[in-house]
Amino acid sequence: MTTYEEYKRLCEEIWEYNYHYYVENVPQISDYEFDVLLKALEAIEKEHPGWIYPGSPTQRVGEIASGRFPVIAHKVPMLSLANTYSQEEVEEFLKRMEKLLHTPEILYETELKMDGIAISVHYEEGIFVRAVTRGNGEEGEDVTQNVRTIASLPLQLRASYPSKLEVRGEVYMSKEVFAKINEKNQSEGKPLLANPRNAAGGALKLLNPQEVAKRALSISFYAMVDTDEIGSQYQALKQLQKWGLPIAGEYRKCATIAELWKFAEEVEKKRPSLPFEIDGIVIKVDDLKDQKKLGVTGKNYRWAVAYKFAAERAETTIREITVQVGRTGVLTPVAELEPVFVAGSTISRATLHNEDEVKRKDIRVGDFVFIEKGGDVIPKVVEVNFPKRPQETHPWRMPEECPACGTKVVRLENEVAHRCLNREGCPAQGLKRLLFFAGKGGMDIDHLGEKILLQLVEKGFVTRPSDLYSLTAEQVSQLKNFKEKAVQNLLESIEVSKDVTLSRFMMALGIPFVGSETAEILAARSGTLERVAQLSEEELLAIDGIGPKVAEALLTYFADEENKEEILRLLKAGVTPRHQEIQSFEGHPFEGKTFVLTGALQNYTRDSASSLIKERGGKVSSSVSKSTHYLLVGDNPGSKYDKALKLGIHILSEEEFASLL
Ligand code: IVH
Repeated sequence: MTTYEEYKRLCEEIWEYNYHYYVENVPQISDYEFDVLLKALEAIEKEHPGWIYPGSPTQRVGEIASGRFPVIAHKVPMLSLANTYSQEEVEEFLKRMEKLLHTPEILYETELKMDGIAISVHYEEGIFVRAVTRGNGEEGEDVTQNVRTIASLPLQLRASYPSKLEVRGEVYMSKEVFAKINEKNQSEGKPLLANPRNAAGGALKLLNPQEVAKRALSISFYAMVDTDEIGSQYQALKQLQKWGLPIAGEYRKCATIAELWKFAEEVEKKRPSLPFEIDGIVIKVDDLKDQKKLGVTGKNYRWAVAYKFAAERAETTIREITVQVGRTGVLTPVAELEPVFVAGSTISRATLHNEDEVKRKDIRVGDFVFIEKGGDVIPKVVEVNFPKRPQETHPWRMPEECPACGTKVVRLENEVAHRCLNREGCPAQGLKRLLFFAGKGGMDIDHLGEKILLQLVEKGFVTRPSDLYSLTAEQVSQLKNFKEKAVQNLLESIEVSKDVTLSRFMMALGIPFVGSETAEILAARSGTLERVAQLSEEELLAIDGIGPKVAEALLTYFADEENKEEILRLLKAGVTPRHQEIQSFEGHPFEGKTFVLTGALQNYTRDSASSLIKERGGKVSSSVSKSTHYLLVGDNPGSKYDKALKLGIHILSEEEFASLL
């Protein structure tokens, strides 16, 4: 028996998780655990319908508006699907359909359930005009400019289209992009994105579309609104494809339960190798007239059900928690597990990310833990099986000294990561830096993997990157199993790597916080390494995409004598970063002009708008005067607007500003 107090407590608990999920984009529990809680709540409400109140999570599970974008009402509400992890419940759904449609012969259509963010996209005369998030189902946020950055979204439809079209689908982040961003965040000591879905949700709500573009989001569609000429869901998808709209993977007509389960089984098998996350399949009544007849129940469409795949779970024990030292000195705790088979592979290690994460989950050596491996391949330790905790375990703490060099470990302000700051002397950092220098993101030297580098270091032939360029055939031939051909191959790849783009070379240097994007921006703005090294703090900060942290890291890096000498050694050894044509804003209409900003801008933060102006030779001032040239006006402008009008100053809307950029 549940008491009313327990019911209310459960509601509050779910709202708390909901908040972390949708607003902070940092989920505290897995989707599966969340669904279990929600199901429990639904069961209580079924038993005690009198308890249900408008604030119950069942009355609206959806996004909480970020307040950053204009809100737009949906002409047709965006509803949800009932979902289940149980085959039995799917079969109950099928029976329900037979009863309601008075026939046992119903054709279903099945699709992948994309694990992203629902979106409504509008076209007028075949041209993309608007994108709105689901929001609370009745109204959502206008994220048009952000969705416009998505490469797979056609801005113009193909073939013949109606003059007005609304289609619905899902914005998502591919597994590959997600992994890349997290790799970068990890190496830069930034917090990791929880999963691709939250990453996509977070990106969609960014204010600067240029930042959104960097998140390389994707989109796919599964429905169109107002489809009088079209008879079935299957045809609807075919039509979407004809217009050039991307559809998520495969879809199929199924006439029997057996066919449905076959589809589910096939998809679940394929799940790990799909380029995007799915969390199950959606089973829809195919006939659109039948769909209309069936209508809705509460916040769900009655004609469809989502059959979700649980992330595969396994239980194992933590043998040890080791600490890895990365190239930038970040220490990462790693769970060394009793090997266990889960979702198609044997897992023996899992990253625990950082000390806070270990503390939050209270993971200890000797614990029994649940490992989960979903579509995202990277296994994670979900939680400890506390009842099975052996006696005499101890809370885990980050070691006080670096396991590789013994230097005292520090945790810098505002960082989750602990670091070993012994940049020059730490052997682990040295090896990781060499690996990074030679690796794919850097000089891309073939035939030079970790094992070979380790031998070169152990033999004392290589301690810093420039040493690679003075390796001799005699030295290389001392490596294990290195015959003549192998020696020649390695030396040749090293030689070839000397010709390198400026941005790659800067990446290879491993300057803290300088990833590929920053390196490319710097290369495009400066053209040569000398010029990058000479940029002042002010000049750096005037570049859009470079913040104070990166600027400081660059200044520190180029002021360091040892770094300067190493760069010189590399250049002397023949490494030649190619000069790059400078992206110039010379003669730009902003040159020498003074700007004042007022009101809330939709697509820029104050900082990014200011950087864009300064990069183009303009100035930004805080108050309007006779010497102001332009007033950039956002929503709800303040008194600056009235003053500018009085003084006859040129008023720029955000659109005009963007086109002048
Ligand atoms: S049909 C307009 N089909 O799942 C029809 N939904 O609770 C809406 N989803 O957030 C539902 N893949 O965005 C449908 N193939 C698919 C889907 C799908 C993902 C999402 C949808 C919504 C949630 C349903």
